[in-house]
Amino acid sequence: MTVNGALRSTQWFGATGRSGMAYRGWMRSQGFTPEVFDGRPVIGIATTWSELAPCNVHLHRVAESVKRGVWQAGGFPLEFPAMALGETLLRPTAMLYRNLLAMEAEELMRANPLDGVVLLSGCDKTTPGLLMAAASVDLPAVMVTGGPMLNGKYQGTDVGSGTAVWRFEEDLVAGRMTQEECVFAEGCMARSNGHCMTMGTASTMASMAEALGMQLPYSATWPAVDARRYETAQRAGQVVVGLVRDDLRPSAIMTRAAFENAIRVNAAIGGSTNAVIHLLAIAGRLGVPLSLDDFDVLARDVPTLVNLQPSGQYLMEDFCYAGGLPAVMRELAENGLLHADAVTVTGSAVGANVAEAACWNREVIKTVAEPFQPAGTGTAVLRGNLAPGGAVIKQSASSPHLLKHRGRALVFDSPTDYYAVSNDPDLDVDEDTVLVIRYCGPRGYPGMPEVSNVALPKKLLLGGVRDMVRICDGRMSGTAYGTVVLHVSPEAAAGGPLALVRTGDWITLDVPARALTLEVSDDELAARRAQWQPPAAHASRGWTYLYTEHVLQADAGADLDFLVGASGHPVPKDSH
Ligand code: FES
Repeated sequence: MTVNGALRSTQWFGATGRSGMAYRGWMRSQGFTPEVFDGRPVIGIATTWSELAPCNVHLHRVAESVKRGVWQAGGFPLEFPAMALGETLLRPTAMLYRNLLAMEAEELMRANPLDGVVLLSGCDKTTPGLLMAAASVDLPAVMVTGGPMLNGKYQGTDVGSGTAVWRFEEDLVAGRMTQEECVFAEGCMARSNGHCMTMGTASTMASMAEALGMQLPYSATWPAVDARRYETAQRAGQVVVGLVRDDLRPSAIMTRAAFENAIRVNAAIGGSTNAVIHLLAIAGRLGVPLSLDDFDVLARDVPTLVNLQPSGQYLMEDFCYAGGLPAVMRELAENGLLHADAVTVTGSAVGANVAEAACWNREVIKTVAEPFQPAGTGTAVLRGNLAPGGAVIKQSASSPHLLKHRGRALVFDSPTDYYAVSNDPDLDVDEDTVLVIRYCGPRGYPGMPEVSNVALPKKLLLGGVRDMVRICDGRMSGTAYGTVVLHVSPEAAAGGPLALVRTGDWITLDVPARALTLEVSDDELAARRAQWQPPAAHASRGWTYLYTEHVLQADAGADLDFLVGASGHPVPKDSH
């Protein structure tokens, strides 16, 4: 990344006079010798470390490995914090802040004397947030995700983070587990550093970063505590210095072909529906044309190859030992399902990166010829009068018998309203009922939380029912399962038809036909719309105000309208 033949950072550290003294002098308070300002590439290490983001708490140590690599390759590493988003703690949802992280990191990368960046992420929103930022600044960048936790172990069995929580809760409600057993089990589930080790959103987005070509091969799957996680981080530090010298930037890596690869990889790994929203948002920063329908079209001929929870049996540690993402990508490439010539941060094409990738366990990573689930069972995009802007459903996490279903709606304006009555033995619900939970979208909640897969009514759980159709304008955790229609767009709070559904209406879900239909006439819907009142604003100041005023709908990636696109790296004006 050069400006007039010199590295960008030279505008700061190569300056003479008062400005140069100010730029270098205060940096030397950290004990750097003068030669670090000799024009070598300055590499920012954006870390989303925080004790409030437990999945990212080891990123300080990962950063030390990155620094080693940067020094080795002749660069000058400087670590800086970017907003850490802990999925489990943040209220009302970490997703409310993904765009704030992206905006903060973008501005920090641009405003500082950096020639390239290494992006350290882990928990769900930190990976897309940093990729969105890097796309909008377009400085050479390599991502290093923090890696998954070790497999959870409870009573002799593997338990997956997130996925097990839903099951434990159901077992608690149904009386199969005690509260004491649940407390013991939670400690067995999260027993090492790292992000969720199911194929939830964090593992999915780490895989997406690798599939897009933005992190090194195998980087998505090394467990957080594995020495090779740190080896990969050191390698990333070396690689980013080379990217600066070659001026290979995110816009040259995250092309339409790379996004098509990522979408197909997401189908092959049984990845999270959240990848849809995040990939749309990242593409929007780059000006890469990508639509909701691309996800359906591109995924239709891709079978699920990876047998991981929540769709399957195994966990990320098993996936790593079985060969990791390169083994999956090789299988896709050999079956004509990958753009093998897409360039990556290695400087080589993705096809070359994965050509020799071995699979060591066909129970975990299946083949296209004998897949875990057949083609066409990935995330489907639904449309109809209930979701004119589209909705998604993860077929592999759904119950096959519910993929074609007709039932009467039972409508709630929030998950809270639903949970207030969900244990009522007299609740008017049966296994054919379609639960509608609304006002959970980007504007409505706000922030589009992962609340859509509400637990089943106690009455049904006690009767042995394990799944029912749920429809929501919110999201679902990538670790979750169930027949849940998600991301209904436009959302209820934006006046989407979901706001007009009434308890007792008939709804038809037909996933093979990609249809979601509210069986209410247009005239009746128009009459209901005339009576509809938009909900009161959530805030009159601060980030929530800015967010709700500007957030786009889910089918456009839920970015803020004024953040779509890129501004590049130039900052012509000096600060002194
Ligand atoms: Fe952080 Fe699951 S809670 S990755």
